[in-house]
Amino acid sequence: MIWHGEHIAETLQKDLLSAARPVIWVSSKTVWKHYHDLFPYADKARVFFLPDGEQAKTIQAADQLWQQWAEAGVSRDTLVVQLGGGALLDAAGFCSSTYMRGLDFWNIPTTLLAMVDAAVGGKTALNLGVIKNYIGTFQSAQRVYISSEFLATLPESQLLSGWGEITKHALLAGEPLWSECQHWPQNQSQWASLLSKNTAVKKSIVDADFRDNGLRQKLNAGHSVGHALESFYRDKGTPIEHGIAVAHGLAIEALVAFRMNLISRQHGQAITTRIDEFFPHLNWDTQNNERLFAYIEKDKKNLSSEWRFSLARQIGDVRFSDSVSPNTLSWALTQYQNLPR
Ligand SMILES: NC(=O)c1ccc[n+]([C@@H]2O[C@H](COP(=O)([O-])OP(=O)(O)OC[C@H]3O[C@@H](n4cnc5c(N)ncnc54)[C@H](O)[C@@H]3O)[C@@H](O)[C@H]2O)c1
Repeated sequence: MIWHGEHIAETLQKDLLSAARPVIWVSSKTVWKHYHDLFPYADKARVFFLPDGEQAKTIQAADQLWQQWAEAGVSRDTLVVQLGGGALLDAAGFCSSTYMRGLDFWNIPTTLLAMVDAAVGGKTALNLGVIKNYIGTFQSAQRVYISSEFLATLPESQLLSGWGEITKHALLAGEPLWSECQHWPQNQSQWASLLSKNTAVKKSIVDADFRDNGLRQKLNAGHSVGHALESFYRDKGTPIEHGIAVAHGLAIEALVAFRMNLISRQHGQAITTRIDEFFPHLNWDTQNNERLFAYIEKDKKNLSSEWRFSLARQIGDVRFSDSVSPNTLSWALTQYQNLPR
């Protein structure tokens, strides 16, 4: 069940009371510092912490949490309330879904990206060294509580990162969501409306292919190039947010689709224009193409050595899987750099 709305604290308190089970909370210190006042009924002794960001997604952090739970006598009937960004939800979800062969958990995403993406879909994850999300389970949160109340404390770059995934879902869904997402919401009720429609896009795809055997790979639109850009800038020491990399990935992959005669000029331009309107210019130096291609080679979606992308045919029609050549991507990267702006 996904709940959307305002006054999350009251709703959650009622739901916890009616669940009538032992409850523990997992959060990060940063998130708890901002929001512990919102949940005064959370018993302090029953709040556990994971580190912020990717540091949460390590086997060491998971091991520590399991140890603390065991010492505190956390048992099979315990319900875990997970409050935080995507990394926290991935890691806490992994710990919950494996401790004593699985505890029930509820997700409360506190970043925009986690609201529209990580909290919904039932993928939990740890990283294996530098390899992202290599360890994990398929286990859905029993409930997800989505509220724009948490957006007030997010930095601009985090909001834009979430907007990248929002734009991707709108591209998958087509009209009327595509047009609705051309404006930044102005108040809580506009946010609630947009978030509920946006999460429904991911949920419907996940429901049709929970274990990621085919259809779900449409959700990888923008991610073949996006992941490679994210890794490139991370290794260069100038990291960019995941959803911002995905947004540029969507635009570059639209140019790839145009070059392959899969999408019309009009629809391709609608995508690149939308990305230009919301996201800072990437300023890609094509001399770095080969380094970018090395990251694409490692993509899990490739078949033997063939690159496989999820490309748009039009707004509202994305398909998997198209074989893409390095020459086509080079062309798209040059075009993206030279678009009239
Ligand atoms: N499981 C999935 O389906 C899925 C989907 C997309 C992304 N992810 C994962 O999500 C992670 C990225 O998530 P993210 O973008 O939310 O970043 P994040 O979870 O790393 O959070 C970024 C920072 O923001 C802080 N923060 C969280 N909420 C805040 C708030 N309301 N106010 C102020 N600070 C806040 C966090 O403590 C952290 O320091 C990646 O690890 C990615 O792999 C998972």
